[in-house]
Amino acid sequence: MNNKVAIYRKEHFNAAHRLFVHEWNDSKNNEVFGKCNNPNFHGHNYELVVKVVGVPDPQTGYVMNLKNLSDIIREFVLDQFDHKNLNLDTVYFKKINPTTENIAITIYDILREKIDKQLELQVRLYETERNFVEYPVQ
Ligand code: NI
Repeated sequence: MNNKVAIYRKEHFNAAHRLFVHEWNDSKNNEVFGKCNNPNFHGHNYELVVKVVGVPDPQTGYVMNLKNLSDIIREFVLDQFDHKNLNLDTVYFKKINPTTENIAITIYDILREKIDKQLELQVRLYETERNFVEYPVQ
C-alpha cells in the first residue's frame, strides 16, 4: 500500500468537428464516419475529467492545488477548444482526425507539459454520455 491519492477536475467544452480521411471518397468516408463526416461540421458537448495521482504534500495536504489544476486546464485547453471548430480553429487537427481518442491524447500532451512530472496524469473525455475514452490506459 502507498499513500497515493487520485484527485479529479471535471470541465466542459463545446466544439465542432468533422471526421474524414482526405484520401477517401465521399462514400467511403460516409460509410466509416457516418454523421460525423458531415461536410458542414457538427458539435458535441464534451465532458473532460482530468485525474492527477500523487502523494499528498506533508505540509499542504494537497496532491496538487485543484485551483491551479483548474487554471491550467482553462488556460491551455478550454481557451483553445471551447466554442471552436477543432478542424479549422486549432493547430492540432490539421493532419489527424479530431476523434475523441485524438482529442484526449492531445489534451493529455498539453497538460503533461504543465503538471509536475512526479504526478501521474490521466484524461477521460466524454463525447456523449455513453461514449468516452481514457488516455493513457493504466
Ligand atoms: Ni462527431
